[in-house]
Amino acid sequence: MGNHETNITWQQSVISPENRMALNGHRGGVIWLTGLSGSGKTTIANELERRLFHEQIHTFTLDGDNLRHGLNSDLGFTQADRAENVRRLGEVAKLFVDAGLIVIVAAISPFRIDREKVRAMFSHGLFTEVFLACSLEVCEQRDPKGLYKRARAAELLEFTGISSPYEEPLHPELTIRTDELSIEAAADLIWEAVVTWPNTPLAR
Ligand code: ADX
Repeated sequence: MGNHETNITWQQSVISPENRMALNGHRGGVIWLTGLSGSGKTTIANELERRLFHEQIHTFTLDGDNLRHGLNSDLGFTQADRAENVRRLGEVAKLFVDAGLIVIVAAISPFRIDREKVRAMFSHGLFTEVFLACSLEVCEQRDPKGLYKRARAAELLEFTGISSPYEEPLHPELTIRTDELSIEAAADLIWEAVVTWPNTPLAR
């Protein structure tokens, strides 16, 4: 039973989003990076975080791999576990957005429905879905963690792209071909989007 059916009421914060915006100089929002393992999510998240920080923007990265060591350490890679993984990343991102941060999420997040549920938690403009498009061949060649090799040898089961599906976003705010662009160019595109598009938290 969800808590909306219990006797728990929502306690309003005494600090308004406007108060936080005045302190931070910008609103909070999510930049959600989705793509295959090896598509560049973590690398681009790091580059983007560095830039945002340099521009005095309050930012924090939620990396799927990292959160699986703690908050999500009870989860594996079945479809249900990935759904829960993405739900929790979304909920944590929401808390950080309410706290006024630009949250970068880097997670394969392979299922459309799970990403759409997260999107629905945010008002228009505060959720930017970025699809890091990279062919399986290139990701497999890169194989930074040696996981594709293990997946091909069936030592790793339900591996995204090999034995578990990846559902490409149908309407992402941005698609970046990371098998053609440099990390810097990819970060540039995201930066441009979040500072120039209307309604984004950093729109100037
Ligand atoms: S997600 O599918 O639930 O969004 P998440 O991004 O948190 O995945 O974690 C993916 C990371 O877990 C990969 O970068 C890889 O290091 C590791 N991993 C281990 N097993 C698998 C698997 N079967 N499929 C995909 N990634 C796996």
